[in-house]
Amino acid sequence: MKTPSKSNPQGLWYQHAIFYEVNLRAFYDSNGDGHGDLPGLIQKLDYLRDLGVDCLWLMPIYPSPRHDDGYDISDYCGIDPVFGTLDDFKQLLDEAHQRGMRVITDLVLNHTSDQHPWFQAARADRNSPYRGYYVWSDTGQEYKDARIIFTDTETSNWTFDPVAGQYFWHRFYKTQPDLNFDSPAVQQAMLDVAKFWLDLGIDGFRVDAPPYLFEREGTSCENLPETHTYLKKFRTFVEFQNPEALLLSEANQWPEDVIEYFGNGDEMHMNFHFPLMPRIFQSLALADRAPIEEILARTPALPANCQWATFLRCHDELTLEMVTPEVRQFMWNFYAPEPRMRLNMGIRRRLAPLLENDPARIRLAHSILLTLIGSPTLYYGDEIGMGDNIWLEDRNGVRTPMQWNASPNAGFSASPTLYAPVIADDVYGYRRLNVEAQEKDPDSLLNWLRRVIATRRLYPAFGDGTLTLLPVQNPAILACMRQNGTQTLLAVNNLSAAPQTFSLDLPDGKLKPLLDDQPADFNLPGYGFQWYELLP
Ligand code: GLC
Repeated sequence: MKTPSKSNPQGLWYQHAIFYEVNLRAFYDSNGDGHGDLPGLIQKLDYLRDLGVDCLWLMPIYPSPRHDDGYDISDYCGIDPVFGTLDDFKQLLDEAHQRGMRVITDLVLNHTSDQHPWFQAARADRNSPYRGYYVWSDTGQEYKDARIIFTDTETSNWTFDPVAGQYFWHRFYKTQPDLNFDSPAVQQAMLDVAKFWLDLGIDGFRVDAPPYLFEREGTSCENLPETHTYLKKFRTFVEFQNPEALLLSEANQWPEDVIEYFGNGDEMHMNFHFPLMPRIFQSLALADRAPIEEILARTPALPANCQWATFLRCHDELTLEMVTPEVRQFMWNFYAPEPRMRLNMGIRRRLAPLLENDPARIRLAHSILLTLIGSPTLYYGDEIGMGDNIWLEDRNGVRTPMQWNASPNAGFSASPTLYAPVIADDVYGYRRLNVEAQEKDPDSLLNWLRRVIATRRLYPAFGDGTLTLLPVQNPAILACMRQNGTQTLLAVNNLSAAPQTFSLDLPDGKLKPLLDDQPADFNLPGYGFQWYELLP
């Protein structure tokens, strides 16, 4: 779809978009096999459009042995049969585009599955042309300065493969051998993959784990110059195929390293702001905006054609890699008191349970997400406040079936067995907590979110405006001013449980409340918030 959005005639659609992460397997099962699928998602597109979603991000849809929920790909140019066919995917693109929505999917550049034919050929024969697709060692002693990411399961980034007679390099699970980006054939193979999907009409990619493409002795093997050179080449290629295609990158790094992924506006269009995310939760826990303020002060300005992706939760653990050890411990104690709630360097819980299912705090978190900076990404199910199941291993506790209604299996599937159990407890269980019930209740989280997202769409400065945090004396107040050439917007958020009264030094003008008709006297209830337009 090439039409620029109405609010931004320049066509930088992603600067105003609401993203929604779809876990396809969890969303809607159309054929009763217990797994969500593409035809199922197509049936739910109206729901997503009505929520105000502009772009769907699909977790990996490719054939995979699923040792990492599809992030271990065994065929980059196919659809996992459990999800449907390539024709189903084309239909999804058509149907989404007809509704004014775009679709991007995860593209895993860094590694394949160990079941991928490239790896199978590589390990079987030292002389195979595919041997050079991976990173091998006789000793497994190289690159000692590279950290281990999946600290709970992996003890080394090298694993000995008896068939190959050598160690292979992997930054994630040992079932995910890293590709060797020093190989021109690998570099080209990934361009070919991108072309395959762009030719089908896809609107871009969420670029999985980009920091780790190259290895160099004596470095952390992250964010290397070679990686940026390749990503720029990838961008040029993608842009040539489709000038509107989006690269949304998952570099989980500090702001000063992340900024490199935007290049001069010639690398990734967007990157998730990983350091900001935990600080939103930290500020809520402390009733103090300082953590948010500090990280934003450390956040460099982006090239004009770029955008941050912001989020509260996603399919992974709430990662605490981008905080100090002291803050990490505080966050674990506060938000993950039980060991089962922790995973690697993070917290494997969903949004609503993290915020104790408190409607005021859940809405406040969304107010911050929708007004601070960047384009917000919602995680499926969080729009109805779904719960998690900490008894499921790994990150599966936040990947349970979508709760559509109160019928058996939450209306997700007609199958007697599901890929994962539905949540059925008294608080978060599907009998009480589901889309159908929330659609009928005007005060539900779902209907509230639909309204605030619709409001945000009317005010493009929430997407492309500059951000100024106002220096309010009261540390519990987070006051953000967003300005573009035509609009001045203000969002005030009370991070504390107690009501707060405060004053703001504002430019002359009249404040028009955007969310309801509250007077603009800056009296906020506990966890209250308000958005305004400042009229001249
Ligand atoms: C990304 C994904 C995560 C996956 C990892 C390895 O971080 O978000 O789910 O496990 O990459 O592919």
